[in-house]
Amino acid sequence: MKKTILITGCSSGFGRDSAIALAKRGHHIIATTRTEESAQELAAFAKQKNLDIETFKLDITQDADRQKIANYDIDVLLNNAGTGESGSLAEIPLEKIRHDFEVNVFGSIALAQLALKKMMAKDRGTVLFVSSLAGRIAMPFLGSYSMTKFALCGGVDVLRKEIYRVTKNVHIALIEPGAYHTGFNQRNVAKQYKWMDETSYFSDIKDVLKKDEEQYFQQMEIKSTKSMVDKIVQACEAKNPKLRYVAPWWQGLGVQIMRIFGK
Ligand SMILES: NC(=O)c1ccc[n+]([C@@H]2O[C@H](COP(=O)([O-])OP(=O)(O)OC[C@H]3O[C@@H](n4cnc5c(N)ncnc54)[C@H](OP(=O)(O)O)[C@@H]3O)[C@@H](O)[C@H]2O)c1
Repeated sequence: MKKTILITGCSSGFGRDSAIALAKRGHHIIATTRTEESAQELAAFAKQKNLDIETFKLDITQDADRQKIANYDIDVLLNNAGTGESGSLAEIPLEKIRHDFEVNVFGSIALAQLALKKMMAKDRGTVLFVSSLAGRIAMPFLGSYSMTKFALCGGVDVLRKEIYRVTKNVHIALIEPGAYHTGFNQRNVAKQYKWMDETSYFSDIKDVLKKDEEQYFQQMEIKSTKSMVDKIVQACEAKNPKLRYVAPWWQGLGVQIMRIFGK
């Protein structure tokens, strides 16, 4: 069945690739982006490829932008937009943590509340939140990002249970990617080195940290987003979505095992 699916953070990565994959499957896609320029670029791309994708600027931290979704009758909201700060919690400026929470948690929840108003009234719809496996096992020097995803992971689980108390037709679910090469991780880990200076507790091991992070993502990252996008498509099309859609499976399994052993 053709659905109307609104996605946030479609300038690149999972958002953009999911928008394209879902449009190719015949859905009507509203692919939103943080900036007007990205919205125009994506609209031009969609037109050229003859894809049923409309775009507009939706910075999820801006209430005026969020209110725009009231103009649409959405079957699925895919809360995909995200940011990630890096650096130790021992010294990261608090405003950086606040910004991560504004985008990953507050912006996404605020948008979900707006979408739910209509979904609850018509007793139909799905809200998906892109969290992360870093929201199940925290990563050192990515504490700010991990905290937001832990918060999202807990909150979404609760929200799902709450909604199911009153209807079984409105669904809430989590998308939990492992490490994928979208450029997101490289941009995030680089952020800490812009503000860490010689007063940092970690300045003596800065080069080692950089190298470790580079190697970690080189080894772990999946080059193509396809396996995750396939899961996102499944979640968008599911009649009764599961709580979690995880990819790649082996990173999901690794996280489960680490949790069993108390990590
Ligand atoms: N790649 C991974 O390994 C990985 C793993 C686990 C989870 N994830 C999650 O997957 C989601 C997408 O990430 P990605 O890997 O596809 O990276 P990406 O290509 O950098 O996508 C992030 C998107 O979020 C947008 N965004 C940032 N702040 C926003 C705001 N205030 N309002 C609206 N959009 C905003 C970005 O827009 P601009 O480009 O304009 O800034 C961009 O389109 C994120 O939630 C991320 O946490 C990624």
